[in-house]
Amino acid sequence: MEIRKLDKSDSQKLEDLIKNVEDNLEDETFWLPITDKSREHFFEESWTYFLGAFDGDELIGAAGLFFNEHEFGESCKALGIKNDNIAQYGRAMIRSDYRNKGIMKQILGNLLEHAKKIGINKIVATVHPKNIPSQKVLTNFKFDNKLKVVKNNRYERYIFLLELLEA
Ligand SMILES: CC(C)(COP(=O)(O)OP(=O)(O)OC[C@H]1O[C@@H](n2cnc3c(N)ncnc32)[C@H](O)[C@@H]1OP(=O)(O)O)[C@@H](O)C(=O)NCCC(=O)NCCS
Repeated sequence: MEIRKLDKSDSQKLEDLIKNVEDNLEDETFWLPITDKSREHFFEESWTYFLGAFDGDELIGAAGLFFNEHEFGESCKALGIKNDNIAQYGRAMIRSDYRNKGIMKQILGNLLEHAKKIGINKIVATVHPKNIPSQKVLTNFKFDNKLKVVKNNRYERYIFLLELLEA
């Protein structure tokens, strides 16, 4: 398995993976619909840093860091923290037949290394209270569950925060 940064040439593979994940959700409120604005910036480095896991040519997992307020503004406001040097970890998805093999653990580990390299010092993430695998991935990396919110009157979410210590 190879983990690498995704670029525009991976766009169709990423859309296929998103479809696989959206079609196989245990509960549809586990996944916030992807806004057009997010999608437009999927391969723009100032906004998104997407890593993908490949088995041969097949994209079987992905997750990103998002560097724009459009993604993390609400969470920062709820947490009462400034928007500086922050990224949101999100769009964590593993093809349904590849789950529970530690693939997201590897992807998130790589994302955190990248975040440190580029001077990010806080990572926020939101997860449905019943989405146990997703929470497990975060708590294994010492993310703290800070509070519970309801987004768009429908999506219950815990907001997790990880403070990256300077090396
Ligand atoms: C969430 C998701 C990305 C995790 O990916 P993954 O590659 O399967 O994750 P990992 O294998 O690295 O880790 C999963 C962890 O959850 C644990 N886990 C899975 N199901 C569990 C359960 N029912 N109870 C307790 N722990 C569970 C695993 O044991 C593992 O923890 P460990 O490393 O301490 O053993 C994947 O399940 C997914 O794509 N889900 C659908 C989309 C989604 O919900 N995305 C998140 C939106 S916030």
